[in-house]
Amino acid sequence: MPSNLPSSQASKPACEPQFVRIAETGRAPLRFYIDGDEASALQGDTLLTAVLMQQRRVRNSEFSGAPRAGFCLIGACQDCWMRTEDGQRIRACSTLVTEGMRVLTQSRAARADAAVAGVAGLAAQGDAP
Ligand code: FES
Repeated sequence: MPSNLPSSQASKPACEPQFVRIAETGRAPLRFYIDGDEASALQGDTLLTAVLMQQRRVRNSEFSGAPRAGFCLIGACQDCWMRTEDGQRIRACSTLVTEGMRVLTQSRAARADAAVAGVAGLAAQGDAP
């Protein structure tokens, strides 16, 4: 399914991973998408593992905007909810990543706010489109 997200986003998270893989490196690779950007994972990874192998958060809190990265890793704390591009809500720690999966780290409203802030920031610098 093609993405309807812009290719660059104003509030893109730092790309330093939270997790580092040290075992089971021989499983088959797969591709998935975080905020429209292609990423790689291995068959059998949870979505939480797959995302945190790429960056330090699975989403921003819809209440505070603070980054969240899961807490319990066993499906109990509700800290790892993510949304797919088609609007499904999924718990990242108990969902396996699949080939072509497309997930978002921010709500539509937060992405729209970030885009407006990015354009406003460019305008302030005199670089507005
Ligand atoms: S990390 Fe606690 S429910 Fe997923």
